[in-house]
Amino acid sequence: TTNHLRHVDSLTISPSGAGNISHLNAVILGEALASEEDDLIFPSDEFSRQALVPSSAKYLEMYKRSVEDPAGFWSDIALRFHWKAKWGEPVYSENLDARKGTVKIEWFKGGITNICYNCLDRNVEAGNGSNVALYWEGNDPGSDCSLTYSQLLEKVCQLANYLKDIGVRRGDAVVIYLPMIMELPITMLACARIGAVHSVVFAGFSADSLAQRIMDCKPKVILTCNAVKRGSKVICLKDIADAAMVESAKNGVPVDVCVTYGNQSVLNRESTNWKEGRDIWWQDVVPKYPTTCHVEWVDAEDPLFLLYTSGSTGKPKGVLHTTGGYMVYTATTFKYAFDYKSTDIYWCTADCGWITGHSYVTYGPLLNGATVVIFEGAPNYPDSGRCWSIVDKYKVSIFYTAPTLVRSLMRDGNEFVTRYSRKSLRILGSVGEPINPSAWRWFFNVVGESKCPISDTWWQTETGGFMITPLPGAWPQKPGSATFPFFGVQPVIVDEKGVEIEGECSGYLCIKHSWPGAFRTLYGDHERYETTYFKPFAGYYFTGDGCSRDKDGYYWLTGRVDDVINVSGHRIGTAEVESALVSHPHCVEAAVVGFEHEVKGQGIYAFVTLVEGVPPSEELRKNLILTVRNQIGAFAAPDKIHWAPGLPKTRSGKIMRRILRKIASGQLDELGDTSTLADPSVVDQLIALSDC
Ligand code: WT7
Repeated sequence: TTNHLRHVDSLTISPSGAGNISHLNAVILGEALASEEDDLIFPSDEFSRQALVPSSAKYLEMYKRSVEDPAGFWSDIALRFHWKAKWGEPVYSENLDARKGTVKIEWFKGGITNICYNCLDRNVEAGNGSNVALYWEGNDPGSDCSLTYSQLLEKVCQLANYLKDIGVRRGDAVVIYLPMIMELPITMLACARIGAVHSVVFAGFSADSLAQRIMDCKPKVILTCNAVKRGSKVICLKDIADAAMVESAKNGVPVDVCVTYGNQSVLNRESTNWKEGRDIWWQDVVPKYPTTCHVEWVDAEDPLFLLYTSGSTGKPKGVLHTTGGYMVYTATTFKYAFDYKSTDIYWCTADCGWITGHSYVTYGPLLNGATVVIFEGAPNYPDSGRCWSIVDKYKVSIFYTAPTLVRSLMRDGNEFVTRYSRKSLRILGSVGEPINPSAWRWFFNVVGESKCPISDTWWQTETGGFMITPLPGAWPQKPGSATFPFFGVQPVIVDEKGVEIEGECSGYLCIKHSWPGAFRTLYGDHERYETTYFKPFAGYYFTGDGCSRDKDGYYWLTGRVDDVINVSGHRIGTAEVESALVSHPHCVEAAVVGFEHEVKGQGIYAFVTLVEGVPPSEELRKNLILTVRNQIGAFAAPDKIHWAPGLPKTRSGKIMRRILRKIASGQLDELGDTSTLADPSVVDQLIALSDC
């Protein structure tokens, strides 16, 4: 059942670490390797000796217990947190098989706790109040500040008191539309403290997207900021929030209170659009409240947050996470995957608007009492050395980022990296999409100077935390492989029929059994939860990813197998982009596919059919792109618009995306069988209109 165990068992750490030397030389010399699968990079002995999980044998021992006795394994860990009342029996209950009734996952039910208390009060009470919790690095070099655990607790309490005062209660939704300023994690924690359910909307989302999310979760209040600088651009978030609130009100969901943080240095109050009676300046009210605030003790299964993510239909899904299991899982994955020590300084470049920022900027690290760097700006502003200047400034030892950033910095040249010492770095991390071996090697050799293991963490918004990830020091790495499952995670690879395949194979990645950090439902749509995730392969959680397992048992994620594309580590549903395009009056039909993009991983390629008689033009192309930016956000803007007099459809009217993907990637000689198309000539027309 646990395929990888046999394999990892046979791996041994090379005693001198010498195993990788010749290998690294080969990399530096640019020699092609016979096969990525055979490419093992060993941690040094010195690293392994100090690691929390120092060997594959230790991992095996812990992993075995975690899957043979999940209740015992996770209870022992959970007991290290503060619980007002202990959970009951059973520790967890699950049904992942929709044929046997409603799909249900519960962990630590009956346990009474609070995640904000565990992040802050618990660390302060342990005597660590004067440790820095958050370092904030602003967009412009030189703008910075920090908060210790005690100070952060006070700020969180003030906001929590204010929110309670305006009537926010346990279970109420709160929408957060903030950039990466201290107030973002402060707001998340304040909501958690009073049992309110936060829904952070990434500040790159458009007014339409924000409105859609407001209409779905109907928040009591929204918290935003008037404006923010990103690189050299100023973004007026308040205007976007205003437009969203107008839209939601029109649809019967008015927002009563909009708390606005005034970023004075970017935009002054006088220049900020304002609606009296609804809008309130954060700085006018919040600082007046007491710096202590009663904790709302909640059940482990009370909702903690909602986070919307894209699926294969146009409507975003409200992924719901609960409190207790998520707390235990994010804390534990953070600790082991980054081999966390109290001396570490940790920086994750993700925005709190995505799951990575929830689990691994805010909750996971703070639960461990870690010192976290948060960065407001853009990684290439004022130049491509910014990340390494921040690493040196704060002596960052764990640096966690996305392959797209690695690739873009790699393109800008090594001088931007080598200009800085980076001597504090100990561990590197990657997330968001499969990291290609060449980017992996550059990250490892140039950034980490061949001494920092890379934790290539595979997981999803739905999983809450890491699922397949290296444990630094425990076993050799293979560039591009996320290696082995985390404790308690039982990945399986299945074929089209849902039959598990053993050994070396590829297929669909599913997970057997629940884990504490799993999402519990899609907000307001439990049926969609079951249909999307549990019905495709009965009895398993289906990840939507393709995967292979090599002869040594290592897992290699190969990307989405559904109609979701991964652009710079951001998940975008093709249907969402299509529906934005067809909302343009000149567009009758659109089909969107991904194509390989040097920096973004995948780019967005849109085939667009125009209204009869409307000629394609450069202006129309720009307008279509603008329409998508306005409806979803800049990150979803198509890279390429391909004019399509017709789309390849089967006789039943289904668009054959397989053919479109081939055209988009220029593989015109691999179109396959087109004879089943209703009108095979559309393919020739499309090829005639492509510029590759
Ligand atoms: C999808 C989840 C989870 C944090 C960020 C994205 C892809 C994520 C990896 C990785 C290969 C990865 C998968 C997954 N993905 N990390 N290390 N290796 N693929 O969260 O928006 O929920 O997207 O991102 O395709 O299904 P998300």
